[in-house]
Amino acid sequence: MNVIIAGFGTIGQSFVQLLMNHKEFLKKAYGMVTKVVAIVDSKGAAVSQRGLDLNLVMRCKREYGTVAKVPSVGYEMSFLEAIQSVEANVLIEATYTNLTNGEPGMTHILTALQLGLNVVTVNKGPLALAMPMLKEIAEHRKVALKFSGTVGGGLPVLAFARECAKGDKVVKVEGVLNGTTNYILTRMEDGLKFEEALIEAQEKGYAERDPTLDISGMDTACKLVILANEVLGNRVTLKDVRVEGIADIKPEDLKIAKNAGKTIRLIGVAEESEVFVKPLVIDQSDPLAVKYTYNAITLTLENSGRHTITGKGAGGRETATAIIRDLISIKERLVVT
Ligand SMILES: NC(=O)c1ccc[n+]([C@@H]2O[C@H](COP(=O)([O-])OP(=O)(O)OC[C@H]3O[C@@H](n4cnc5c(N)ncnc54)[C@H](OP(=O)(O)O)[C@@H]3O)[C@@H](O)[C@H]2O)c1
Repeated sequence: MNVIIAGFGTIGQSFVQLLMNHKEFLKKAYGMVTKVVAIVDSKGAAVSQRGLDLNLVMRCKREYGTVAKVPSVGYEMSFLEAIQSVEANVLIEATYTNLTNGEPGMTHILTALQLGLNVVTVNKGPLALAMPMLKEIAEHRKVALKFSGTVGGGLPVLAFARECAKGDKVVKVEGVLNGTTNYILTRMEDGLKFEEALIEAQEKGYAERDPTLDISGMDTACKLVILANEVLGNRVTLKDVRVEGIADIKPEDLKIAKNAGKTIRLIGVAEESEVFVKPLVIDQSDPLAVKYTYNAITLTLENSGRHTITGKGAGGRETATAIIRDLISIKERLVVT
């Protein structure tokens, strides 16, 4: 399988590292041999139809800050030039999330689909803004559009919904989908003020320097859009979600909740009739009452009730495993068709 990677930051590099570490395992267990034929970052690209020397690419990225400096295969080249200069089966889209117009990921994904490439994205921006359209284009072009890493990092929640819930109907999805806000709420439960908990989250590397997307609930809303489309079959985008963040929560609110055996969590809820994100008071014994940076997603099935999956919702290595999972299912599809 020939792969192009757009975006070579935390996730792109973690994926390449995982690919190198697990090369033999992936070949033996899944017959998967992956050749990375192009890697693009914001300053250029490294391109080789024979397959890039991944150790060398990683070293150059570390030393020079860009893959454009890889000797003899690095160029000051745009994504569009790179994708047209190699033959590939899959694009892995791992550039930054932009909720205004989805760029540059939107153009990357659309171009790849139009050229007949399968797409694996960890970038939720394009999906949050235009998931129904992107899915239609992929179906029309008869290629796969995979996005396991966009929700819950390495948590296999989409596969859980697709495979394990077969034969029953998912009627509701609820999720603690943002580790930063969950960390802040957990620490506020311990008595910290919102600002103190936020600074601590930033110091520990859990929150971005600009945490607006997390605090406002928009990051949770993006993930909820993906779950609603994929798990419930709703045709929704970000503009259909009612969103309320955690900025107005006071330590007193958490104290009152705690004294009543409850807690407050920022929860995304999707049903057929509504999709919203809001801080909700829930029982401390509710499986969604996870602490610190953990994520939890509860699916309510028509006949078998509530099922919850929890785990670390972000991180380079965790999210890279989701990319590998998507590649394995694309590989299986390539063999079948
Ligand atoms: N980090 C996580 O735990 C996590 C978990 C799940 C999903 N995600 C999502 O995964 C995506 C990547 O996250 P990350 O943490 O790896 O971000 P990151 O470290 O900021 O990396 C972003 C990459 O995009 C590249 N880039 C920027 N503009 C570009 C362009 N026009 N063409 C090609 N490449 C471009 C950057 O290039 P330079 O290297 O030259 O700056 C950088 O390599 C984001 O959408 C994020 O929301 C992240």
